[in-house]
Amino acid sequence: MDVTNPKNAVPPLSLTAELTHRCPLHCPYCSNPLELLGRDSELDTAAWRDILTQAREIGVLQVHFSGGEPLGRRDLAELIEHTAGLGAYVNLVTSGLGLTEARLQRLVGAGLNHVQLSVQGADAATADRIAGTRAHHHKTIAADLVRRTGLPLSVNVVLHRENHDQLAEIIAFAEELGADRLELANTQYYGWALRNRSQLMPTAEQLASAEPIVQDALVRLKGKMQIVYVIADYPEKYPKPCTYGWGARQITIAPDGTVLPCPAAGAITTLQLENARERSLAEIWYDSSAFNAYRGDDWMSDTCRTCDRRELDFGGCRCQAFLLTGDAAATDPVCHKSPDRGVVDLILAEPRRTGFVMRSPSR
Ligand code: SF4
Ligand code: FES
Repeated sequence: MDVTNPKNAVPPLSLTAELTHRCPLHCPYCSNPLELLGRDSELDTAAWRDILTQAREIGVLQVHFSGGEPLGRRDLAELIEHTAGLGAYVNLVTSGLGLTEARLQRLVGAGLNHVQLSVQGADAATADRIAGTRAHHHKTIAADLVRRTGLPLSVNVVLHRENHDQLAEIIAFAEELGADRLELANTQYYGWALRNRSQLMPTAEQLASAEPIVQDALVRLKGKMQIVYVIADYPEKYPKPCTYGWGARQITIAPDGTVLPCPAAGAITTLQLENARERSLAEIWYDSSAFNAYRGDDWMSDTCRTCDRRELDFGGCRCQAFLLTGDAAATDPVCHKSPDRGVVDLILAEPRRTGFVMRSPSR
């Protein structure tokens, strides 16, 4: 390979292909940017095929087709077929809206390996209020269709103040849907979720009540349904190991071809992001300033560079550091050693607002 690799990066493992920002749902916890891209900016089929080929050439093993709602792309089956033909594992991240039996058959025939279905709540009234549209009844239909194909099904539920009290019912609903895996993910505050942070932030009581419910379910459902609980990181002492290190494992491609080190990295205005229409993926992965910015530990502040957890959490989340302090190289302010921890404590102490700003429709 004729590309310089100044930070000795290893090949990426996975690629998230955000095919579109268009989506029939309006979830206020969406991590898509506030400035949603319209259909006119989207890469065409040929450009995606080329990117997927390049991704496989540099080592990508898993491709997650995501969005927005990837079913909004008419060429989804073609892109799945192309990716599966390259030997990659293909996951579809979907709301289930637009998934018909015929459509699913085409996607399975094209080589789809796994479906991740989002669920907004345990009952239609709550879930549809969060989705901003009638979505809940589609979940049962979509899950049933997926199960009948024999594909593994993951259910993903973003948790926040409006649905945290339904945790036990949400777990029961995922069992009813026949999920093989349930991801219960406390909201991470990027994009629309950051805009709605005060409205979404669970109470300390809700988080405390969730623990025994999750523990119980982990024991009861062992071997039947895998449960992954993603904790709310603001109240924690240490930050999350976001993306397992910057530029270490994964690439995200935005609908317009912008190549991102993580799905939220577009928010870091100090980064020089590049586009797959203009430079090869190999060059961007190994040699771009954006991907090299926070690789390794030479960018870290002394707080992290001298800390023995730096290889466990990599100094936390770069996007969170930027969004909360204005400096993407700062120690993640969730960390109790960060000089900016007070920012997080103030947010936790703020009176909570109500009334979501729903994610706008994109064109
Ligand atoms: Fe992680 Fe840095 Fe905090 Fe250490 S100081 S725990 S490396 S964020
Ligand atoms: Fe971007 Fe954590 S979300 S580095």
